[in-house]
Amino acid sequence: MDLTHRPRRLRQDHVRGLVSETSLEPADLIAPVFVDATADERRPIESMPGHERVPVEEAVARVEEVLETGVEAVMLFGIPESKDPDGTRAWADDGVIQEALRRITTETDAYVITDVCLCEYTDHGHCGPLEEELRSEDDVTEGGPACEPTLTVDNDAALAALEKIVVSHARAGADMVAPSGMMDGMVGTIRDALDREGFEHVPIMSYAAKYESAFYGPFRDAADGAPAFGNRRHYQMDPANAREAMREVRLDAEQGADVMMVKPALPYLDIVSAVRREFDHPVAAYNVSGEYAMLHAAAEKGWLDLEEAALESLLSIKRAGADLILTYFAEDVARGL
Ligand code: PBG
Repeated sequence: MDLTHRPRRLRQDHVRGLVSETSLEPADLIAPVFVDATADERRPIESMPGHERVPVEEAVARVEEVLETGVEAVMLFGIPESKDPDGTRAWADDGVIQEALRRITTETDAYVITDVCLCEYTDHGHCGPLEEELRSEDDVTEGGPACEPTLTVDNDAALAALEKIVVSHARAGADMVAPSGMMDGMVGTIRDALDREGFEHVPIMSYAAKYESAFYGPFRDAADGAPAFGNRRHYQMDPANAREAMREVRLDAEQGADVMMVKPALPYLDIVSAVRREFDHPVAAYNVSGEYAMLHAAAEKGWLDLEEAALESLLSIKRAGADLILTYFAEDVARGL
């Protein structure tokens, strides 16, 4: 056969590495860590095999386990001892994240990022205090309202709470903050608050394009953060929309976000790739709990090889354009690299 082009030449064992276009390093990965103020011992998270909620006293040990694998960054999520309508435990000086931060940042070299949101702290499980939604005249019949008024998150009241949260996290030692509530104006508000308090050096990783996704299911069990009623579609994005993601990222860029996150990752690789093309910020992708749980479930049935499938998933996310990946596979994959 007279074939000029034989791409298989570069797929031979010894040359594959040389021509490989994408690489994955432990330093690209961020490991989520759950700290639980209601726990007095480590508790496995059933829907996320291999992960656990740890009490504050175990937070340092947990982070050290992560560091041993070569992963250098963690993202902290907190489960508070109590919840209320406003989520006040989210910014308490003796709150679960604040206590854990002080220990982790003084006792380890980890780069510590905090998830900044209210849903784990409010008793209704939404990402901010609630208000009755404004309804159109058409909804009101002569006999009064045609239906129960709808509750939604009060955007600007949530912003005021987010300011208090980030300042409390920065005071306790957070290296980076990551607002995840999809409130309008959250990045600008947080930037101002940090700067005002002398934390100009603390970067913001914005969950810039965060979709209302079924893939958060296992996390909501893990962090007790399921909404008590309704869903998050009033603030998280519609999975049908891609252009809107560019608009969200642009707004966050204007407000001073340092890193742009897309979440979830695998079902939204088109968005990761578009953000990579259109912006020059580092791009992060969140390989979420459902993406982790489904591979585990399939592997448990013997239907796929967990390690290979995990590695391939993370490689795809990088290939799409992510610089960093937040993933529950961080430790396992880093150990294998
Ligand atoms: C909080 C938050 C959620 C996740 C990360 N931060 C839950 C949600 O929005 O419902 C989900 C992460 C995952 O599924 O791994 N706002």
